[in-house]
Amino acid sequence: MCGISAVTGREDIVHTLFESIKNLEYRGYDSCGFGIVQDGTVEVRKNTGGVDEVNGKEHLTSMLGCTGIAHTRWATHGKVDKINAHPHQSGDGRFSIVHNGIINNYQDLKSELMEQGVTFLSETDTEVAAHLIGLAYSEFGDVRSALLAALKRLEGSYALLMVTPLEPDTIYAVKHGSPLVLGLAAGRNFVASDVNAFLPFTHEAAILEDGEFAVVQPDRWAIYKIDSQAPVARKPFRIEWDPETSRKGGYPHYMLKEIFDQPQTIRNALATPLPEIVALAESIRRAHTTYLMGVGTTHYVAQVAQYYFSQLAGRFLPAVSSDEFNDLAVIGADDLLISISQSGETFDTRRGVKFAQEQGARTASIVNVMGSSLTTMVDQVIMQGSGPEICVVSTKAALAQMIILLRTALELARIEKRLEPGVYNAHLKSLGALPAVVQQALNEQSGFVRNLATRTIHFQNWLFLGRSVYYPIALEAALKMKEVTYLHVEGIPAGFLKHGTLALVDEHMLSMFFVPPTSIGELHALTLTAIEEVKARGGPVAGIIFEGDAKAEHLLDHRIVLPQVDALVAPFMELVVAQLFSYFSALQLGRSIDKPRNLAKSVTVG
Ligand code: F6R
Repeated sequence: MCGISAVTGREDIVHTLFESIKNLEYRGYDSCGFGIVQDGTVEVRKNTGGVDEVNGKEHLTSMLGCTGIAHTRWATHGKVDKINAHPHQSGDGRFSIVHNGIINNYQDLKSELMEQGVTFLSETDTEVAAHLIGLAYSEFGDVRSALLAALKRLEGSYALLMVTPLEPDTIYAVKHGSPLVLGLAAGRNFVASDVNAFLPFTHEAAILEDGEFAVVQPDRWAIYKIDSQAPVARKPFRIEWDPETSRKGGYPHYMLKEIFDQPQTIRNALATPLPEIVALAESIRRAHTTYLMGVGTTHYVAQVAQYYFSQLAGRFLPAVSSDEFNDLAVIGADDLLISISQSGETFDTRRGVKFAQEQGARTASIVNVMGSSLTTMVDQVIMQGSGPEICVVSTKAALAQMIILLRTALELARIEKRLEPGVYNAHLKSLGALPAVVQQALNEQSGFVRNLATRTIHFQNWLFLGRSVYYPIALEAALKMKEVTYLHVEGIPAGFLKHGTLALVDEHMLSMFFVPPTSIGELHALTLTAIEEVKARGGPVAGIIFEGDAKAEHLLDHRIVLPQVDALVAPFMELVVAQLFSYFSALQLGRSIDKPRNLAKSVTVG
């Protein structure tokens, strides 16, 4: 949802700034711009398109300077055009800013400023902030005072980076509800929306929290409270992510690479220290009600986890989508909210956490991005350690979250003595074997999945169906397919089909079934009944099944047959295949796989 980045160094930083903003391109990619401090001014170059495209048009990398800001946009206010691209400047050109987030009261402020004679160039909310700073500087004659005075007028959520030729080696960075993190290196410091921006240059970072601003120079940085201007002592931390994992490594797309990363991502999720998992299980145990919350893919992760908590630990944990949480959840001091988020920045999820905290509830989070907002908001955090996920659609992060929640359900079941030690140990064993079997499936099935995508690519309308835990797996698979193919794909519970949706079935609607292993007798039989219902109405049927399932094999027109695995981990295998299927379908259609239209990676607006 827009990426912002700034670098200040003792030497020219333009190429570094370029690489840093390129690393944030997955946050937004409709336009891009640079503001470089140079010879007593800030030169701004910007245009529409992705970072490389704008570089082609504006020659960003031919600029020169030691301090600069950059922006890659996902439009919220104002159409996608050159004028609305960031940076924006005050009327006198002295203050240049890039912004991520939304200034809610910008219309009122804009009217007020226009009455004072200020001319606006763009339709953005951001330009208001630039003018406010410029006007405040005329009053105070001091950069910091001008910035703080302007901030007092802004409502909404924002992260701002500002440069000015008045202090040519300084970046001012403000955080209020949108993500911002400092990267620290010798003779060169960074500020960016997330750590991916500077990971190739430094692993040292410092978090900026809401209500704080930072003053960053090549050899110094300091953080202050916005309200009181009191200095804040902030301990830097080390980012353990390997920058190699954020490179494509020979894969044509990040999505494919990240699907293939999953054996390692599962290993990392299995390596999450047991005491952290047990502590979360204990929190659930102590709580009266534990809610699971996420949105989009992470809502489906929560729904998958729901089945594990019900079936293994005998606890029903309501899963509520973050965007609906505040209107639906009845949460109080005895309750716990577990939020799930790859980015740790999603507006809807942070809003839900804030609501739960206001009601006195305890909060925990499973998060991938270190130093993100959620990690500082909640009482208890599990870092999932999946490494950077660059493709806009989530694959490896979601699977890792499912594994961590499954481990938590298993620990809860063990503590509450709901599982025989032998069964608990058998479950741990099948989890331990999962990385190898996923690797095997990826190696052996990719060709078959690709063929299936070729044979079915002419279908415009799809149903993805499953029962029990295979239902949220079908929902997540359907979301992946929609996101990358732009086809109409609806995920529904297979048992629900006959209660209405069956009316849609004809020879043009392909139904894709997520079939459980035959060892889960009744579930398997009921899923096959739904397949028969579709076939009886002339609908083509495809499915993901396991070896030895002769009945399903006979019924299905198209199938992917996976090697037999333990029932506990079978849904994960099907999810991985479905991710691959979406990828190859999108490839057939020539879609923009890593950056699908209209989407952005980290949705920090409401
Ligand atoms: C889908 C996808 C989104 C995110 C959702 C929440 O592929 O990536 O649905 O899952 O926007 O994002 P996080 O997990 O960052 O909170």
